[in-house]
Amino acid sequence: MAATIIDGKKVAADIKAELKKEVEELKAKGVNPALSVVLVGENPASKKYVANKEKTCEALGIKSVGHKLPESTTQEELLKLVDDLNANPEIHGILVQLPLPKHMNEKEVMHRISPDKDVDGFGPDALGRLLLDEPGFVPCTPHGAMKMLEAYGIDPAGKKAVVVGRSVIVGKPLAMLLLRKNATVTICHSKTPDLKSECLSADILCVAVGRAEMVKGDWVKEGAAVIDIGINVNESGKLVGDVEFEKAKERAGWITPVPGGAGPMTIAMLMYNTVEAAKNSLKA
Ligand code: GUN
Repeated sequence: MAATIIDGKKVAADIKAELKKEVEELKAKGVNPALSVVLVGENPASKKYVANKEKTCEALGIKSVGHKLPESTTQEELLKLVDDLNANPEIHGILVQLPLPKHMNEKEVMHRISPDKDVDGFGPDALGRLLLDEPGFVPCTPHGAMKMLEAYGIDPAGKKAVVVGRSVIVGKPLAMLLLRKNATVTICHSKTPDLKSECLSADILCVAVGRAEMVKGDWVKEGAAVIDIGINVNESGKLVGDVEFEKAKERAGWITPVPGGAGPMTIAMLMYNTVEAAKNSLKA
């Protein structure tokens, strides 16, 4: 039986509609939620992502304060900007778009963003809290994956979840979130000996490797939930995920499309974290 297609666009739209109301409530209390998005250089994909984030802020009534810096920006100049944004009470969230130009030290920049404003959830405070099961900013892409499972009534408890990819911003945090929901979690990576059989064992299969259609349709267990976090351009110039969608959807119980799955959810969860940061400012 063909899979239910998980409509990430619809789930994201529902979350954004709720957030829009919360933004209005915050404004009535005198808090004007604001996100500062910092882009260094001219990476075309990054420019597109940043434009999308700014557009979504606008649609929700969140103030978007963009900083577009030239490729030649020094590490010190960027750190100075982060320090200024950290100190600015009118800015609730700070996002420095990655990747940064090669001459920069991304880790140092991520460490410099105030934990109270780290709406990407990439800093050590946010990631440590995730490991500790303490409240904090959850990285947006894995958070969005969990929200899609929830929206379709897929409870990870007692299920076998396989995460392919061990990046700090997707694979590792997603494994922690699945564990938090009581799945039995396996993290696979480039040194995993038999990736196909690992994938075939998954009730929930999440793939975040950034390689076009690397996970084949016949690697998917009948009835499994498949969350595809890849966005790649294949040889024919078509946007495809990390999973061979057309074949996988004949076996899966649920599957996210690319585009229209994980992508819109990432932006929705960034807005969620920004609203959380603005709410927290009321408590401070
Ligand atoms: N580059 C690709 N995805 C992201 C993201 O979610 N946040 C940031 N800061 N950079 C990215």
